[in-house]
Amino acid sequence: PGIAVLLSGSGSNLQALLDAQAAGDLAGEVVLVASDRAQAYGLQRALQAGVAAAYIPLRATRGPQRQQWEQRLADIVACFEPDLIVLAGFMRVLSAAFLERFPNRVINQHPALLPADGGDTVTTTSGLVIPALRGAHVVADALRLGLPVTGCTIHRVTPRVDDGPILARAEVPIQPDDTVESLHERIKAVERRLIVATVNRLLAGE
Ligand code: GRF
Repeated sequence: PGIAVLLSGSGSNLQALLDAQAAGDLAGEVVLVASDRAQAYGLQRALQAGVAAAYIPLRATRGPQRQQWEQRLADIVACFEPDLIVLAGFMRVLSAAFLERFPNRVINQHPALLPADGGDTVTTTSGLVIPALRGAHVVADALRLGLPVTGCTIHRVTPRVDDGPILARAEVPIQPDDTVESLHERIKAVERRLIVATVNRLLAGE
């Protein structure tokens, strides 16, 4: 099965998939990496692994140019006929039109805990009720709110941002001396394990 990865940044989660693939531990093959950012290091990681890499420049964040960009992205992804599309640090919101073209195939990584019911709170394994953090700054938000615990979520993507059926979730304790960087790095270490396991589970048809 083919996997397309969309990303905007460093691509350490992509690397986890590529490493698993090289070790024979991935139930599929990364066939395409696409990005809205030319400088995304994930594109280099793809090329180093011999995987097709596409940079699709985004010239406007709204209006017809934004729509054209998404259409081009969808066309390129469609060429590779992926069974699964992983948003691994992809900082753009995909429209319903994109998602309808790849029904049930798009999954997203989110560096915080999200609830299964789409609500505003999450109950941790220890029974603590904490706010569901959504948006692009959730690691900083977790620190700012003084939460004792945060985590990461992998979910199916629906047109509603940071929502959709939960596929996997893991908690990460926050330490008193954590900075945004140290906390995000610990979350990402967990995300890298979780994405490989979840992709394998999905491709095995579970
Ligand atoms: C991850 O924390 C992911 O949840 C978030 O962006 C980060 C991507 O990290 N959406 P990387 O580019 O894979 O290193």
